[in-house]
Amino acid sequence: MCDFIRKHGHANIGFATGSTPLGVYKYLIESYQKGKVSFQNIQAFNLDEYVGLKPGHPRSFASAMKKDLFSHIDIRLESIHVLDGSQQDMDQECQRYESLIKNNPIDIQILGIGMDGHIAYNEPGSPLDGMCHVVDLHQESIESSLDYGFDNIQDVPRQGVTQGIGTIMKAHQLIMMAKGQKKAKLVEKMIYGEVTSDFPSSVIQNHDHVLVCLDQGAASQLKEEDYERY
Ligand code: PGA
Repeated sequence: MCDFIRKHGHANIGFATGSTPLGVYKYLIESYQKGKVSFQNIQAFNLDEYVGLKPGHPRSFASAMKKDLFSHIDIRLESIHVLDGSQQDMDQECQRYESLIKNNPIDIQILGIGMDGHIAYNEPGSPLDGMCHVVDLHQESIESSLDYGFDNIQDVPRQGVTQGIGTIMKAHQLIMMAKGQKKAKLVEKMIYGEVTSDFPSSVIQNHDHVLVCLDQGAASQLKEEDYERY
């Protein structure tokens, strides 16, 4: 990502929240602090958000990205783009975000995989060509939210708003990341399984430029000859 920014001078980057990319964000902050890269000319696009939380809410994904990355680098505030889950008319908000991305195609999109196989908040059953939309969160996603600072499950919003799978697949490069043994079976299914909306992350098999970054635990169900396949 740093190479891309240095080479082109600017970049449109899609950022994911969750625990997985935190090491990457730490690395980007360190690279900035050492003067190796500047984010002044990047545009940032968050992947998803909770419905019902204002961007400034402490548990929003917008706040998490600010805390974990944006407040530590030289990105311009007006270059940070988020889905606003507190809008009255969420259909309009989704259309606004979809056309913003259409006019600023994403160069590099960071992704994680959820415990139910979701990417962004595209839960199982989401259409593979879907655009930005509101979703009812599945139980696994609600439970995983407890890792993101909610004190109890009742406080977790029941809906999310997300870039669609179709939106994500238009990015020029995908970087899919997974960490830990608990993701091993999911990663195996994502890479060897059928491409199906029942397991949304499997769609990355259809993308021409995907980098899958795994630690040993997450890669433990893969055949060794397939490492570097992507
Ligand atoms: P995690 O979330 O990085 O916290 O495991 C991934 C996801 O739900 O997409």
